[in-house]
Amino acid sequence: MSDLQRMVYASRATFAPSRQGSGIELEVARILMQSRRNNPRSGLVGALYYGNGCFFQCLEGEAAAIDELCARIAMDPRHRDMQVLGRHPIGARSFSVWAMKYVPNASAVQALMTRHGRKEFDPYTFDEALIAAMLDLLRQGMDADLLQQDANGQRAGGDRVPPAGTAVPAAGGRRRAALLLGLALAAVAVVAALLLR
Ligand SMILES: Cc1cc2nc3c(=O)[nH]c(=O)nc-3n(C[C@H](O)[C@H](O)[C@H](O)COP(=O)(O)O)c2cc1C
Repeated sequence: MSDLQRMVYASRATFAPSRQGSGIELEVARILMQSRRNNPRSGLVGALYYGNGCFFQCLEGEAAAIDELCARIAMDPRHRDMQVLGRHPIGARSFSVWAMKYVPNASAVQALMTRHGRKEFDPYTFDEALIAAMLDLLRQGMDADLLQQDANGQRAGGDRVPPAGTAVPAAGGRRRAALLLGLALAAVAVVAALLLR
């Protein structure tokens, strides 16, 4: 029998925020890479938010897999003060296509805080209603990788963007187009040579 659960926790980052523009923190990108590599193997999905020096993470999957991952995450020196905000049985995973979705929409989160009478993002003070609203925001928000694709027309490079574990199609597509163009030109040359004989 399945024992699906959703667990939500808050924690505080131990690394200092880097000041390199508006991209994703390097340390957060590394966490996402690990999550997206590991979670599918244990049937885990979820979402992560990082803001105001705090993490808010939702994990969905079999209870044993959540326990196993949480034990690992709790030992991670990149954060501290891990506090479980909620853990409940669920009928189905709500982040089913996301090994670990990352929604870097600070202004939407700030608007949510304001609607709930909060000055800043402090997940330790969240009540049930705010946890549910935050999860809805993460479900509806756009993942960081998709945002990058939308802004640039293709996936951006650089070390501040977490790869989602998918291949980058742009370079392969360009090579294929050049090959097809070469073949077409060769065919035209052959036809022209035959006609001019
Ligand atoms: C806030 C936070 C969230 C994390 N979430 C995950 C996660 O969902 N899945 C995961 O595999 N590791 C996660 N990690 C990283 C783990 O603590 C650990 O470093 C990682 O699982 C080790 O994986 P590796 O042995 O493949 O490098 C998280 C770390 C932090 C600080």
